[in-house]
Amino acid sequence: MEFIRTEDYKAMSRRAAAQIAAQVIQKPDCVLGLATGSTPIGIYAQLVEWYKRGELDFSRVHTVNLDEYASLGAEHEQSYAYFMRDNLFSHINIDMINTNLPNGKAEDTDAECRRYDALIESFGTIDLQLLGIGHNGHIGFNEPGSIIPGTHKVALTQSTIDANSRLFASKDEVPRFALTMGMKHIMQAKRVLVVANGEAKAEIVKRAFFGEITPDVPASILQLHPRLTVVVDEAAARLI
Ligand code: PGA
Repeated sequence: MEFIRTEDYKAMSRRAAAQIAAQVIQKPDCVLGLATGSTPIGIYAQLVEWYKRGELDFSRVHTVNLDEYASLGAEHEQSYAYFMRDNLFSHINIDMINTNLPNGKAEDTDAECRRYDALIESFGTIDLQLLGIGHNGHIGFNEPGSIIPGTHKVALTQSTIDANSRLFASKDEVPRFALTMGMKHIMQAKRVLVVANGEAKAEIVKRAFFGEITPDVPASILQLHPRLTVVVDEAAARLI
């Protein structure tokens, strides 16, 4: 594991964005596994800035996102499809046909999960998977306790609902279920890049990357990945 401490959120974002940019430059038709949440917003802003300066070309890049809320369509402002357009896709020259998220509105969830697994497998492997980390150690929406290999529907834990309610008008509006990529495709990615910032992530950063490897902390499984990079700011590295 490469553990990189940076000064602050901006430095963390820049450092992580540089890894993604290097991937796109080295392999212009790469497959990027992307994440949502507050943490990667600065990374996407940095990539957009470099794109606008003419330094990056996303025209041949494919993306697969980790997860989507069940029941939210792509037009819903809190859907992850909307987030990705808003923060990245609408600002770069990626072909939207090459961007992928699970369809939260799919009527047949099992079929949608199988479709998503087949899609990822059709790419071979993900070249670089970006991940945030939940306060409870979840990655994507792989919540503590059960390690499921493929894409699946998951009931969100109360801690995730509480954490994500900040983005909704009320806690009642937070979807209770999500579709998430499973641990198999995350672990099969050629490279994994985890980002975390802020004091509130310090405890989980320590448990996940310097503690016991256990399904109770899904991110701890990443310690077994041969090419794992963790980029954190000073506050999230406080207990290391
Ligand atoms: P956050 O979410 O970036 O909004 O903290 C991370 C996660 O839950 O994976």
